[in-house]
Amino acid sequence: MVNVDLIQELEDLRREALQAVADAADERALEGVRVTYLGRKDGRVSSILRRLGSLPPEARPAVGQKANEVKRALEEALQARSAELARRDGGTAVDLTLPARRPWKGGLHPITQAVDEICAIFRDLGFTRARGPEADTEWYNFEALNTPLDHPAADEQDTLYLVDSVLLRSHTSPVQMRIMEAYPPPIRIVAPGWVYRRDTPDATHTPAFMQIEGLVVDEGVTFVDFKATLETFARRYWGADTRVRFRPSFFPFTEPSAEVDVKRVIHRPDGSTVETDWLEIMGAGMVDPNVLANAGLDPERYTGFAFGMGPARIAMLKHGIEDLRTFFDNDVRFLEQFAT
Ligand code: PHE
Repeated sequence: MVNVDLIQELEDLRREALQAVADAADERALEGVRVTYLGRKDGRVSSILRRLGSLPPEARPAVGQKANEVKRALEEALQARSAELARRDGGTAVDLTLPARRPWKGGLHPITQAVDEICAIFRDLGFTRARGPEADTEWYNFEALNTPLDHPAADEQDTLYLVDSVLLRSHTSPVQMRIMEAYPPPIRIVAPGWVYRRDTPDATHTPAFMQIEGLVVDEGVTFVDFKATLETFARRYWGADTRVRFRPSFFPFTEPSAEVDVKRVIHRPDGSTVETDWLEIMGAGMVDPNVLANAGLDPERYTGFAFGMGPARIAMLKHGIEDLRTFFDNDVRFLEQFAT
C-alpha cells in the first residue's frame, strides 16, 4: 500500500535528515539541510506533505501525522544544533566587548521625592501625613476658609467646576477643615496633594500642581512656634546656614499672614560660598479664629498655624530646573537623571 511505503520513506528521511543536522559544521551547512528537507518548494518532507491531497482518503491521516512528526523532530534538531554552533562559536556570536545592557530601572518622580523629603522632615517634628479629596465643595475650598465667594481671593483661584458647587480644589487648605472636623486637637499634619487652577502652562505654572498643606492646632500655639517650626524645616531642607525671612502678606484664612523666603548658601567645590537671592517657598500664617470656629473649635481656647508650599517649585530650586513643564513632559531622559 502507498500508505505503508510513504511511512517507511518518512522514517528513512528522518534518520537521514537528523544525521545531516548532526554533521552540519556551521550555520550555512545547517541552512542547507533545512532547505533540503523543509524548504517550502522542494523540501523532501514538505513535498510529501503537499502530496497528501492526492492520496486515497483513508491513507491521509496516518501519512499526514507521520510527516508532521518528522517535520517537528527536524525543526527541533535544527534549533538545537544551531544553538550548539552558536555556543561553540561564542566569540563571534556574542561580542563580549560591547557594554552590557543594563536592566531598565524605574525611579520616583522628582516631585514625589521632594514630597517625601519634606514630609520626612515634618515627621521628625511630630507631624502626621494626611490627605483630603481633590474634588471638594465651595464651602471647604473657600467659605469655611473665611473666603466669601465674591472675595477677590476666590476670584484669583476661580477654578474648574464639576457640578454645581463641587470643584477641583484650588489649594490643599480645605484639608485643614476636614482634619479639624475629624480629629480633636492636638493636630499636627502635612497634607500633600494635587490642586487645580485655571492657568495657562508656562515655565512656572501648570493648571494641575502639587501642594503640601501644613496645620498645627492646639492650646497655647504661638507665633514663636510658627516661626521656629518653619525655620527648622527650612534649615533641615536647605542646610543649617540657610536664612529664613517672614514677609507680611494676606490670606483670608490666616491672621497674621506671611510669605516665607529662604536665602541659601551655596558651597563651591573650592571651599568658597555664595548666597542665593531670596526665594519664596511658601505662604503661611496663624489660623484665623473664624476658621477655627467654622470647624467647631473654640478660638478662645485653641490657636494654630498653617502653611502651604509647592514641592515642584522646591524641587526646581534644588535641582536647578528652569522650566516646570519638564516635570510633566514624561521624557524619560529627563526623569531618569533623578532616579535613585
Ligand atoms: N492655600 C494658600 C495658597 O494656595 C497657601 C497657604 C496655606 C497660605 C496655608 C497660608 C496658610 O496660596
